[in-house]
Amino acid sequence: MARVLGVLGNCRRDGYTVKVLKAALDGARSVQGVETELVHLLDYTFGPCTSCYHCIRTAEHRCILPDDMGRNGKGTLWRMVEAANGLILASPVHFWTADALMHTFVERLYPFVWSGELKGMPVATIAVASNQGFQIIANRMLCQWAFTLAMRYVGGLPVHAAYLEEALLDAKYLGLKLGEAALNDARAGRRPPTDLERWLEYQDKPWKVYPHYIENLTMGTFNSDFSLIRRAISQGRFKKTEAIELLRRADEEFERFTHYQSIGNRERAIEHLVKASALWTHATWKEFLEEKLIKAPPPKAYHPIEE
Ligand SMILES: Cc1cc2nc3c(=O)[nH]c(=O)nc-3n(C[C@H](O)[C@H](O)[C@H](O)COP(=O)(O)O)c2cc1C
Repeated sequence: MARVLGVLGNCRRDGYTVKVLKAALDGARSVQGVETELVHLLDYTFGPCTSCYHCIRTAEHRCILPDDMGRNGKGTLWRMVEAANGLILASPVHFWTADALMHTFVERLYPFVWSGELKGMPVATIAVASNQGFQIIANRMLCQWAFTLAMRYVGGLPVHAAYLEEALLDAKYLGLKLGEAALNDARAGRRPPTDLERWLEYQDKPWKVYPHYIENLTMGTFNSDFSLIRRAISQGRFKKTEAIELLRRADEEFERFTHYQSIGNRERAIEHLVKASALWTHATWKEFLEEKLIKAPPPKAYHPIEE
């Protein structure tokens, strides 16, 4: 049997979001061999991540907080996520984005970024608004989180309550697609994507990884002369030898990225952007975090992103 968890982040038990989520779970259950469970986050006890970094200091990469998302992987909710073959993240739109409950839940999935167990797990997202809107933007945020967790994005549904009837049909179909993907996950096993595959996969998803990384690495200018990497080198912001070497390699990769982008070779450009980003992340880890956070025992890996 494949298991699909429909995760509802909402303090309102009988709102529009739960209706859409139930329709999606109906769709998932229509696939033979798939069972579903609606998980209302309000029924579980967990709070925000405390940045203790215990999860990256141990080889198991588990959270030690004494609640349903912690207890070294024995938390009730944690175990349900771990045992699932597919997730549906459904949230009301609050302040243009997912609500605080959903955000807190996703934040507490951070240890999975390191353990990698969610990599390749199918996921679908639902964002429901009934006022001004912004369901598209909220759904994009959910998609961005799915990217960060390296999950396989099956699809997303931004919904406004004015169009609820259509949305219920769309949700059923989305659920069916997720159910099929979850069944495949249970039967054929999960294959974590490489970083490059993940970047290519998310090019046509609601959250398009490529422009956001360029924007971030160029400090919002989209001009490689202003890259975070190059400025850090020229201004001597990094002091540790290992970090400086990583930074130098990141700069080389970013230069290659710029070249391929200028001649319109998107695939090669992405390949080098992925490397530049991983090297930059690794360099910042070495310079600003590692010594402060990792006392003992040493972490298995310094950063989850491959180089
Ligand atoms: C704190 C808060 C912030 C909200 N922000 C937005 C918003 O940005 N856009 C919008 O259309 N509706 C917003 N709403 C309204 C919700 O989208 C609306 O209550 C919706 O029905 C939530 O889903 P639900 O029916 O499942 O509770 C907000 C509601 C709350 C309580």
